[in-house]
Amino acid sequence: MLSSAGIVLSACDSTPKLSEDNIDDVIAAMTLEEKAHLVVGTGMAGFAGDSAVVGETKALVPGAAGTTYPIERLGIPAVVLADGPAGLRINPTRDGDSATYYCTHFPIGTLLASTWDTTLVEEVGQAIGNEVLEYGADVLLAPALNIHRNPLCGRNFEYYSEDPLIAGKIAAAYVRGVQSQGVGTSIKHFAVNNQESNRMGNDARLSQRALREIYLKGFEIAVKESNPWTVMSSYNYVNGTYASESSELLNTVLRDDWNYPGMVMTDWFGGKDAVAQMIAGNDMLQPGTDKQYKAIIDGVTSGTLDEKILDRNVRRILEMIVKTPHFRGYEFSNNPDLKAHAQVTRRSATDGMVLLKNDNEALPIPADIKKAALIGCTSYDFIAGGTGSGNVNRAYTVSLLEGLENAGFSINPDLQKRYETHLESEKIRLTPDSLERLSAFMPQPRPEELKLSKAELSDLARDNDIAIITIGRTSGEFLDRTVGDFNLKESETELIKNTCDAFHAQGKRAVVILNIGGVIETASWKQYPDAILCAWQPGQEGGNSVADVLTGKANPSGKLPMTFPIAYEDHASSASFPAEGAVSEFGAERKDGGDKPLWDFTPYNEDIYVGYRYFDSFDKNVSYPFGYGLSYTQFEYGTPRLSENDGTFTVSVNVRNIGKTPGKEVVELYVSAPQSKANNKPEHELKAFVKTGLLAPGESETVNLTVDSSDLASFSIDKSAWVVDEGTYTFAIGASSRDIKCSLTTFVAPARTIAVSQALAPESDLQLLKR
Ligand code: BGC
Repeated sequence: MLSSAGIVLSACDSTPKLSEDNIDDVIAAMTLEEKAHLVVGTGMAGFAGDSAVVGETKALVPGAAGTTYPIERLGIPAVVLADGPAGLRINPTRDGDSATYYCTHFPIGTLLASTWDTTLVEEVGQAIGNEVLEYGADVLLAPALNIHRNPLCGRNFEYYSEDPLIAGKIAAAYVRGVQSQGVGTSIKHFAVNNQESNRMGNDARLSQRALREIYLKGFEIAVKESNPWTVMSSYNYVNGTYASESSELLNTVLRDDWNYPGMVMTDWFGGKDAVAQMIAGNDMLQPGTDKQYKAIIDGVTSGTLDEKILDRNVRRILEMIVKTPHFRGYEFSNNPDLKAHAQVTRRSATDGMVLLKNDNEALPIPADIKKAALIGCTSYDFIAGGTGSGNVNRAYTVSLLEGLENAGFSINPDLQKRYETHLESEKIRLTPDSLERLSAFMPQPRPEELKLSKAELSDLARDNDIAIITIGRTSGEFLDRTVGDFNLKESETELIKNTCDAFHAQGKRAVVILNIGGVIETASWKQYPDAILCAWQPGQEGGNSVADVLTGKANPSGKLPMTFPIAYEDHASSASFPAEGAVSEFGAERKDGGDKPLWDFTPYNEDIYVGYRYFDSFDKNVSYPFGYGLSYTQFEYGTPRLSENDGTFTVSVNVRNIGKTPGKEVVELYVSAPQSKANNKPEHELKAFVKTGLLAPGESETVNLTVDSSDLASFSIDKSAWVVDEGTYTFAIGASSRDIKCSLTTFVAPARTIAVSQALAPESDLQLLKR
C-alpha cells in the first residue's frame, strides 16, 4: 500500500494500538498465545528477567507482588500489582542504586476500622494511593476485608471487623481514597478466607445465609459503594469449590447479582485448574506459571475452553489496563511526600486507639508527671504492623520510648539499659533458622519478658511518677495464632500485677498499652492497671501516636470493631477453628477426599452467630463488648427521632459533649427485627454508624443514621431471597452493642422479598446454631 507521500506502509501499521475505544479491535488482533500470556501474569519461565518468587517480582518496581504481561506490538504495557493493605509494599533499596524507596507504614486495617470514620479512612487511602502512583505501581492489592470469624486468624490485623457493615463501609472508603489518585485496588480475599491453617486447601463449609449475611455482605457493600478496579479471589474452597474456580461466586453472585463490571485475579498461586478458573470468571492468574499458560492454550485447542470466554476475560483485563498510570504514561517521581504522610499516619492512628479503661481519670497524664518507668519489651521494640504481604518496608518505627521522649518524658535510664541489653540477647536467641524459606516473611516469636523483682519495682515506683507497661503481639500470613498467644503468659500477668501493686502502694498510677494485631484475653488482669489503651499496631509513627493520646494532645475516639470475650472458648466458632497454629505450606493443595476437620474443611456451625451476634443473642458475658470505647470526655444523647421516606429510615439524634475536653463520639444504630422460629434473627444487628466531628465542651451535633428497608432483611435459603418480615422493628442508638442509650420502634409492612440467584449451597449437612 502507498501513502499519499508515496511511502510504503508495512502490514503492521494496521495493527491496533490499545486505547480506551478499541479494546475489541485489539482482542481481534491478538493471537491465542498472547491472550494466554495476558491472563496469566509474568511469573512464568521465559519472560525476560523476571520470575515471581513468593509475593515479589523484580522487574519494573522491585518488590512488587506481580506484573501483567506486556504486548508491545499492540500497545499493551505491563502494569504493576503491589501489596497492601497498611501501605505500599515494595523493596526499599535496589541493586546499584543509592536512592531509597521506603513507603509509609500506616496503621493496620483493624485500627482503621476502629476509627469508625469513613472520611478519615478515605484520607488515609489517598495518602497510600499517592505512594502507589509516585512509586510507579498501578494496582494496590488491598483492602483486605475478611470477617473476624475467630480471634485467632493470623491475618485478622489486616482485616476490619466481626461485622460486615463496618468491613464493607471501611473498605469502600479505603478504595475511594486510593482510587482517587488514579490507581487501582484489589479487594481481597473473596471470599470466606478466615483462617491461615491450610489456607490453600481448606474448604469453608457454611450456609448460604451465613454467606450472604456475613461473609459476602462486606464485599457487596464495597463493590457497590466504591467500584474497585479489581477483586482478588481467595485461596480456600467455598462449599466444595475453589473460590477462584467458582462460577457461582464470581459470575453468579459478583457479576450477576451485584453487577460488578471489573476484573478478578487470583490470590498468588491460588486454585488448581486454570481452565476452570477462566470459565469461572477469574480473569487473571497471578503471579502466573508456565503450567497455567499451557493449560489455557491446550484448553482452547482441545475445545474445553471456549475462546469467547478467554476473550471476555482478556477484555476485562484490558479495561483495567487502560485506566492505569503505566498505560497513561504517567511520569512517577519516586519521591512521594513521606513527611506529610507520616503526619497522616500519626494522626489517623490516634483516632483508632481504643481506651478500654480509665479509672479516676488516670489518663491523660497530667502535665506535671514527667518521670516514667517504661516496662515491657514491646515498649522498646514497638510493633508497627503484622508480617507477610501486609508488611510495609518503612524507613523507621517510632518506639514508645522515642514517642514519650519526644513528648518530653524522662524515661528511667537504668531500666532502659536493662531492657536494651535484654532485647539484644533475645534477638540472638530468637534469630530464625536462615534455611527456613519463608521465615523472614512470617511472624517471629516475641521476646520473653524481663523478670523484675518486687523490690526492683518498688524502687522504680519510688523514683518515677508513672508506670507504662506495654504488652505486644504479632502475627501474619501462613500461620494462625494459638490460644497461648491469645492468653497472657504468666510472666506478663505477673509483670502487670506486680508493677501496678508497686506503683499503687506509693500512690502512683500504672497504665497498660496493648500493641496488638488481634484480640487478647483481658478479663483476668484488667482490674490491676488504672487505664488500658488498646493502641493496636499503629504504623510507623506508633510511639508518637500513643504519646499523643497519653498526654491528651489527642483524645482517643476509637471503638472496638469486635468483641473482647472473657475466654477464647466463649466464642461460638472456637469449637471449629484450628487453634494449634499449624503452618500452611505455600502452594499446598488439598488432597482430594482429604477429611481432616479444621484442616481439609471447616464447618461454620455457628452460622450467622459471629461476634456480638452470638454474645448478645445468647446472653454471654464479655470482657469488652463490640462497639465499646471510652473517651477523655463524656457525651449525652438527646431524644432520637425516626422518620421514613420512600423505604429509607432515618434516625436523628443529638449528641452533646458534656465533659471538659474536645472529643468525637461514634454513634451506633442497632436494629432488632421481629423474631420468629423461621427467621432465627440475632438479638440485634448494626445497621448504621456515624462519627461526630470534634465537639468542643458544650458543643453538640445532630447525626443522621440512615437504613434502607432492604437492609432489614434476612437471607432466606428456601426462597433464595432477601426477606424483610412484616412486623415491629426496634431501632436502638448505642455507644456500644451493650450500652443502648435510647430506642424507637416502627411497624414495617408489607413484607418484602428481593430475589437473588441460587448459588453456593453447601454440599453436606451442617449443624447450624439456632436461638
Ligand atoms: C496474599 C495476598 C497478597 C499476595 C501477593 C498472598 O500470599 O495472600 O494477600 O496480596 O500474596 O503478595
